Amino acid sequence: MTCAKRAGIIGVGSAVPDGVLTNFDLEKMVDTSDEWIRSMTGIVERRIAGEDEATSDFAVKAAKAALDRAGLRAEDVDLIILATFTGDTPLPATACLVQNALGCEGTPAFDLSAGCSGFVYGLAAADAFVRSGTYERVLVIGADLLSKVTNWTDRSTCVLFGDGAGAAVVAPVDDGAGFLAFELGSDGSAAQSLSIPAGGSRSPLTSEDIEAHRDRICMEGREVFKFAVKIQGEATERVLAKCGMTTADVDMVVPHQANTRIIESAVSRLGLPPERFFVNLQKYGNTSAGSIPIALDEAVAEGRIKKGDTVVTVGFGAGLTWAASVMRWVF
Ligand code: ACO
Repeated sequence: MTCAKRAGIIGVGSAVPDGVLTNFDLEKMVDTSDEWIRSMTGIVERRIAGEDEATSDFAVKAAKAALDRAGLRAEDVDLIILATFTGDTPLPATACLVQNALGCEGTPAFDLSAGCSGFVYGLAAADAFVRSGTYERVLVIGADLLSKVTNWTDRSTCVLFGDGAGAAVVAPVDDGAGFLAFELGSDGSAAQSLSIPAGGSRSPLTSEDIEAHRDRICMEGREVFKFAVKIQGEATERVLAKCGMTTADVDMVVPHQANTRIIESAVSRLGLPPERFFVNLQKYGNTSAGSIPIALDEAVAEGRIKKGDTVVTVGFGAGLTWAASVMRWVF
């Protein structure tokens, strides 16, 4: 196999559960209001998976849609990268369950854990694999069922999250198209601000942990908010500088869909018109690794991203991590 000069996304797809949980439903579960959730986050409703549904179910659906869009079959896939922190089970990697369900016989598959930045981390890994000539067609999936790890008694977090998956096929593309630059980073000194404290080797799960909800997402919302506002703008500016661009060159920013106030801060910092930011969090809440690929898929379906457009993705999340990419859209 020869080395590709460029890699890019040649197909996208997404899948979300049918179940809808509205802000009004949440009013009956915790001490909150539709007005508070809308004004503080922008979220109106989110999708929630059924008891018998798991992350791989939506990862597989999203992957199939992305392969269809790319005009490829399962046997064409050379590598599967699944960004998630809500795998079907702690072991094995959920990517292997996806490999089996898709029927990609013998295809290497691994999970990647970078919280809400996971999908863009996955794109960066796929870009390197494709450009080095190691693998030609890489399926990158971002999928999380946050409802399964949400503390439904904690009003400060349970109103924020939802379930869903998105996928992209990364393959060699013509010179001038595809990925132009990546900016990845992490700051583990702030790990405690967004974590699931129990259930790992540091603190194997006990019944006391379950009672105290330490097997669920714990977040210092204010700290994460400040970090997100700062890093979203910085990462976008840095990734654009890496390929000699400025915000004036950008046709569409697809940010992590966490909170409209965080996205609005990027709108004012980057000086771009609001319509150059794709926002769909009102329908899905924060779906972690699913958020950016679901948004990419919808932006393409709605004609907001077209062939030749310069597209920025930018995410932040547990770790703390951040990740941004610039690409020229291929199809
Ligand atoms: N309904 C009503 N009131 C609420 C709710 C709620 N659902 N949640 C919190 N409040 C109250 C608080 O108790 C507090 O009341 P007090 O002033 O009487 O103490 C008040 O609202 C303000 O609470 P804060 O937490 O200080 O509000 P803040 O302005 O920080 O907004 C929010 C909270 C929306 C969670 C914000 O901090 C945020 O968006 N943080 C970032 C979260 C995020 O994006 N995480 C992304 C990564 S997620 C991942 O990787 C899985």
